[in-house]
Amino acid sequence: MGEEDSKAGGEGMEWYVGVPKIELHAHLNGSVRDSTLLELAKALGEKGVIVFSDVEHVILKNDRCLPECFKLFDLIRILTTDHTTVTRITKEVIEDFAAENVVYLELRTTPKKNEAIGMSKRSYMEAVVEGLRTVDAVDVCFIPSNESTENFSETPHTNDAYDRKHRRKIYVRLLLSIDRRETTASAMETVQLALEMKDLGVIGIDLSGNPVVGEWQTFLPALEFAKEQGLPISLHCGEVPKQKEVQAMLEFQPQRIGHAICFEDEDWRQLKLSKIPVEICLTSNIRTETVSCIDDHHFVDLYKAKHPLILCTDDPGVFSTSLSQEYKLAASTFGLGKDEMFQLARNAVEFIFADDGVKKALKEMFDSASSMQ
Ligand code: IMP
Ligand code: ZN
Repeated sequence: MGEEDSKAGGEGMEWYVGVPKIELHAHLNGSVRDSTLLELAKALGEKGVIVFSDVEHVILKNDRCLPECFKLFDLIRILTTDHTTVTRITKEVIEDFAAENVVYLELRTTPKKNEAIGMSKRSYMEAVVEGLRTVDAVDVCFIPSNESTENFSETPHTNDAYDRKHRRKIYVRLLLSIDRRETTASAMETVQLALEMKDLGVIGIDLSGNPVVGEWQTFLPALEFAKEQGLPISLHCGEVPKQKEVQAMLEFQPQRIGHAICFEDEDWRQLKLSKIPVEICLTSNIRTETVSCIDDHHFVDLYKAKHPLILCTDDPGVFSTSLSQEYKLAASTFGLGKDEMFQLARNAVEFIFADDGVKKALKEMFDSASSMQ
């Protein structure tokens, strides 16, 4: 790979930050800044809800195996699940992605209920949408019906229009996650909510959560309902060895899958035939030790086979990474040059869940960025 480009992987971080990027696999509560988590933990410590010194090292720890990650997610859930905080973390996460030139983001989150504070799945999601509205560092386009008039290449005529054009802009869409701990009825409620919130940027469904928990059959009715209703689906697939489930997931033909790690030969064959795009999360796979060594990562095999791939972060907060870092890591590990990395970023446009209007605007934006390379 990349023999023609002697500088493969040798670009400085600046290049990876500057290049436009598309993020399709990021979990809201996995993307929270450490500084925000520490601040929230301190506040809950002062109220006596938790003991700050017990959780500080959990937040700051870098290397976590998969079970430890899910313990951290339970802690994050305690820290973030109230309406004001959900709005705040959504705003910060969007600002962080936009600051590193992510131009289109599909952010996924699990709608949560907490009766004690009057939170329903809907009110949780309304707090997320409020977070999108309150971002001020960047223009956030998330209401599909408002976008037909917006274009990255719009010609400015007045100073106002000039300012608008030169403000950083990010398209955001939301995927509602079904947690593998949920029941069929609860998963169905999430799909119903996704349908009701389509006008507010909700665009699809994700299945995630601790991969050793729950059975495929539990979620299938809700996923089939989503499919019937035309909602695109991404499944976390093959994070742990569960061959029957991997087979069932591939047969279901989701629009995308995340990870694809513990696959048997037959699964790889089927995946390649299916052309289902794979969301690749390098640092997440290495930190959780689901892939033993980055040099052996299945990225190489899929890339050589020209299988549709998207580089993603999974949980930039939990794994202390960023999309730019993931691009740099892929380039340096697999010997990819600037052109190949730019193409990899641009190819992701084809695999987004948003409509052709957004795809067209993104392609124009990549084209104008490529002329400046
Ligand atoms: P939330 O949905 O916004 O609360 O984001 C955190 C949640 O995403 C976690 O509690 C998990 O359910 C899910 N999640 C994050 N990372 C992973 C992963 O690597 N595998 C499976 N599920 C994950
Ligand atoms: Zn994930």
